[in-house]
Amino acid sequence: MAEDRKISEPIRAGVVGWPVGHSMSPLIHGEWARRAGIDGSYVPIPVKPSYEEFALAMDDLKAQGFRGVNVTLPHKEHALRYAGAASDNAKRAGAANMLTFGETTAADNSDIAGFAASVRAQTAAPGKSALVLGAGGAARGVILALQELGFETISIANRTREKAQTLAETLGAEVVDWSDRDQTLYRCDLIVNTSSLGMTGEPPLEIDLGALKKSAFVVDIVYSPLETELLKSAKARGHKTADGLAMLMHQAVFGIKAWFGGEATVDDGLREILVAELKRRGRA
Ligand code: ATR
Repeated sequence: MAEDRKISEPIRAGVVGWPVGHSMSPLIHGEWARRAGIDGSYVPIPVKPSYEEFALAMDDLKAQGFRGVNVTLPHKEHALRYAGAASDNAKRAGAANMLTFGETTAADNSDIAGFAASVRAQTAAPGKSALVLGAGGAARGVILALQELGFETISIANRTREKAQTLAETLGAEVVDWSDRDQTLYRCDLIVNTSSLGMTGEPPLEIDLGALKKSAFVVDIVYSPLETELLKSAKARGHKTADGLAMLMHQAVFGIKAWFGGEATVDDGLREILVAELKRRGRA
């Protein structure tokens, strides 16, 4: 009997962050669980920024029977430290956005595969030369994804050149001066904004796409606003684009498969749900 009760218990998962109330992940996982008829819940879990708070919270979630969690800011490095095992991508990124609880807690980084999938969904041949704007934590994952996609020349432009330099040396990329970003565009097959510029409440990203070849792909990982000025001008010039929602949806596929076991499709129906929510919040 006890065994029966255990089997019928709903699957539990969630997203851990601080703050976490704005996260769209509960909507994504909720929709996939609904479509697949899975009895599961996926909840936002606020955990204060320190490693100690994080570790206590993870011990507690495990004891409660959670299958796993997504991890967002400021805990992605804490997640890697907490885990007993880590995927190559999590190790390479030095950060994890997924923890799967079991005998050992396993860390993974689906931001990398999610970014790669969001590009592959739009183009079979993304090219060989890319420009990455920004050199923070998000840039690191994006560069690893570009390498996975087969990009051979990856240039990083960042306001603080030293940060671009460090990242370039660690990952095998090149550095271009922030002030030279426009002049670099002529040789790019893909450009991606990983900086906070263009985000609601942040300064605009100033860039002139004039030198970019028509076939180039333009990505912005920002999703508030959904259509940044960068994407707006790229679309007006006829470039293929991907926005932050695309990456968010694609990275979520890995969590739902690991914890809920169902199929998860990134499609227009899911996007519409997320866009409606962003609009409701006045963010799209
Ligand atoms: P994340 O981990 O999400 O990438 P982050 O580490 O805070 O966030 O990085 C933010 C990025 O946006 C950095 O590359 C930052 O440039 P600096 O390294 O020079 O700080 C970039 N950024 C933020 N505000 C900027 C601004 N006003 N002009 C140019 N770049 C800016």
